[in-house]
Amino acid sequence: MQRISDKLKAAGKSIGLVPTMGYLHKGHLSLIKKSKSKCNITVVSIFVNPTQFAPNEDLSKYPRDIKRDKKILTAAGVDYLFYPEADEIYPSGFQTHVEVENITKILEGEFRPSHFRGVTTIVAILFNAVMPHYAFFGQKDAQQAAVIKRMMQDLKITLKLIVCPIVREKDGLALSSRNVYLSEKERKDALVLNKSLRHAEQLVKEGERVVKKIISEMKKIIFSVDTSNLDYIGIVNAESFEPVKTISSKSSYYILIACKIGTTRLIDNILLKI
Ligand code: PAJ
Repeated sequence: MQRISDKLKAAGKSIGLVPTMGYLHKGHLSLIKKSKSKCNITVVSIFVNPTQFAPNEDLSKYPRDIKRDKKILTAAGVDYLFYPEADEIYPSGFQTHVEVENITKILEGEFRPSHFRGVTTIVAILFNAVMPHYAFFGQKDAQQAAVIKRMMQDLKITLKLIVCPIVREKDGLALSSRNVYLSEKERKDALVLNKSLRHAEQLVKEGERVVKKIISEMKKIIFSVDTSNLDYIGIVNAESFEPVKTISSKSSYYILIACKIGTTRLIDNILLKI
């Protein structure tokens, strides 16, 4: 991959990287489209990264279908697929990890303590393998994008990171590879995530500024279905990712939610600008 990238760069081509774990959907495709519009060459990586899954999580049953993914990538006009094996990325003797310290402790980090260490480590490796000019990530994983931005600042990684908006189903459910786990009833119940976010947005529009009140209103919607099991709702400053107690018109914020619907853990968020 590095040799290919070197050659492309020597020929004056700009390279965009879209890192994924496969089982591609329209959310991934929106990142690919963005990369194709900005870069001469688009590289997509597919790697279900074991180090970002805790032992009790869904690594072994994470959906995989490389044949289908390859077809999707070909139809989308992607130039290169980087599809390494786990033991190429993590050969025996591997012992180096990248750890961002503070913003990895809250929200996702509180419920998945080793998750971001796995993400930053693999993303640093992918950046070194592909050496792109641009990398494309989704707002769907807003904290992940913030953590990667922090890592890039701290490690002086100078490629450009572009964060793309969340792609949703018509009824509002954010697209996710994990949506295939949902039963028909759970699929309906899963709408409470987006509904609660929209409700919060409406409350803020109507003048509510107290985070506790907004969250307690959101919880009513989440708990209106019997399959929901909430991990967290958080409201953070969109720049610093620091949790806030009140909303002010001077900043923008993320409202973030993680909730199990049945046994499937879903995340969603909105960017709030007043
Ligand atoms: P994965 O969940 O496959 O997501 C790959 C990229 O697609 C991420 O940047 C994610 O935010 C984006 N994405 C997912 N659903 C989206 C949606 N509905 N709308 C817009 N973008 C969406 O995130 C990962 O993989 C991994 O952690 C990875 C970064 C590849 C490291 O292993």
